[in-house]
Amino acid sequence: MKSIARILCIAVAAGAAVTSVAWSQSAPRNEPIQPLPAVTDVDPAKAKIGKRLFADKRLSADGTVSCQSCHLPNAGGADPRRHSVSAFGKVRELNSPTIFNVRFNTSGLNWTGRTVDLDKQIAGSISNADTMAHSWPKVLEILANDAKMAKDMAAAYGGDNPVSQANASHAIVSFEKSLVTPSRFDDWLRGDDKAISATEMLGYAKFKEYGCVGCHNGVNVGGNAFFKLGLTGDYFAYRAANGRGAAVDVDQGRFLVTKKPEDMNVFRVPTLRNVALTAPYFHDGAVPTLDEAIMLMGRFQLGREIPAQDRKLIEQFLGSLSGKALATAQQ
Ligand code: HEC
Ligand code: HEC
Repeated sequence: MKSIARILCIAVAAGAAVTSVAWSQSAPRNEPIQPLPAVTDVDPAKAKIGKRLFADKRLSADGTVSCQSCHLPNAGGADPRRHSVSAFGKVRELNSPTIFNVRFNTSGLNWTGRTVDLDKQIAGSISNADTMAHSWPKVLEILANDAKMAKDMAAAYGGDNPVSQANASHAIVSFEKSLVTPSRFDDWLRGDDKAISATEMLGYAKFKEYGCVGCHNGVNVGGNAFFKLGLTGDYFAYRAANGRGAAVDVDQGRFLVTKKPEDMNVFRVPTLRNVALTAPYFHDGAVPTLDEAIMLMGRFQLGREIPAQDRKLIEQFLGSLSGKALATAQQ
């Protein structure tokens, strides 16, 4: 947990610095969702190397997938396929979560929170049979034999052994930490009344009234707590009845990590930033539309049937959480 605390401190420090410079006239509104701090702790040269590595298929054993194959920049940082495909064509049972704003997930990483920090995540991804199925020594050999990569890593990191696991991981983590996506809603949180529309504002009011904000809150509108999927009903029975799959191991969620009975079907509350761009939804990718995800959250987390017009309003509000740069890139 030490490095999560460290990331948090940096985030808080960055937020404080920004508040005093760029937004000195307007302290953030007093809301259960907080604006994204600006990134001030990433070395651009290192993040640039990380960006190349993130898109480099040579990191997988059979050269078929890069990190980006499952965390797509033009799909909100997530995977539009229900189930991602790993090296050697292995199909995963999980939907890939977004890589955007990942540094602000404070309850650990992955759907279960099983990984403590971004460094550990990468160490695992490279060797995990469900991801790259490779080994660090082989990856480093490939990178060291790539003259441009070896030269750029030497320039950025120096030292006797610039193409090391520590440096390659650091570069990827630097890139990941730079993936922060300020939205119109952040502008509103910082005091710009015109940044979101009247309908989006109504949607935000509904989001609070229904109690969504009880679980989806903080800087990442999630990522900071664990809850059972199906507090007020059986989601998995609904999924099976709709022909979207019987129970599989990964549905056990956090129980797989802690083995505590109370963690059965418990998942990390996901971020809702960019959620309008990251269909399909839930850990199993079994929910194709945002409207249905909102409906199911009402039914299975809050014990409420949310009428269609309220779902529409909430969906509009969630759209205001898409990164502005991403929204422009999509047009
Ligand atoms: C085959 C698809 C696939 C590939 C390739 C892949 N990932 Fe992932 N990634 C996933 C899935 C699925 C999860 C969720 C895993 C879980 O919950 O157990 C995930 C989770 C993550 C997370 C945690 C996100 C969060 O919100 O907690 C990070 C960070 C991440 N991946 C980074 C990477 C990096 C870096 C690489 C390349 C070295 C990579 N991924 C390659 C599918 C993939
Ligand atoms: C009791 C806690 C809780 C409440 C209340 C709650 N959620 Fe969730 N939400 C979760 C959890 C946990 C998940 C992850 C479920 C999974 O992946 O299997 C989730 C997932 C989601 C997702 C899918 C995100 C993705 O990337 O797949 C959306 C959208 C969502 N919630 C919206 C809402 C809305 C809208 C409300 C209010 C109507 C709401 N939630 C209320 C805990 C909650």
